[in-house]
Amino acid sequence: MTAPKSVLFVCLGNICRSPTGEGVLQNLVEQRGLEDQIQIDSAGTIGYHEGNPADRRMRNHASQRGYDLLSRSRKITADDLERFDLVIAMDRQNLADIMSIDSSAENVRLLSHFLDDNWPEDVPDPYYGGADGFETVLDMIEAACPAILDRLLGREFESPAETNQ
Ligand code: 4NP
Repeated sequence: MTAPKSVLFVCLGNICRSPTGEGVLQNLVEQRGLEDQIQIDSAGTIGYHEGNPADRRMRNHASQRGYDLLSRSRKITADDLERFDLVIAMDRQNLADIMSIDSSAENVRLLSHFLDDNWPEDVPDPYYGGADGFETVLDMIEAACPAILDRLLGREFESPAETNQ
């Protein structure tokens, strides 16, 4: 058996978008019986919500689609960029903030890297908005997770957005 592959989802607060990335991909990994091969975590670029569970609104929307969001918020560290095989930023500001930790990191991608051009480039921040925002977060993450899993498993995956980054 090859060594497990690891992925870290990153957003601003680590209470809405990145916990959803973690929960949705974990669900897919369990459906496919790949728990021994894939390790998943999430973090935020700010530590403001450190130790908090995912936002109740996000948990409720996720739970309606069958996902349990179990993460506790933590701030990303420089060590994360070394430790994780793949780091996925939810929006371009998150990407810039991650790259400001280590501008030479080569394992950081936008979530939309794993989506075709019909999707927006950023996963919109749902925190100050209404119910639609939380549904959009789930729609984008559900659409991207199969390609993210393929990438982690080393299967050939040509990003439709490769030329945009
Ligand atoms: P997230 O959402 O980055 O998807 O976890 C947010 C959570 C908290 C805040 C902003 C966005 N905040 O300003 O506290």
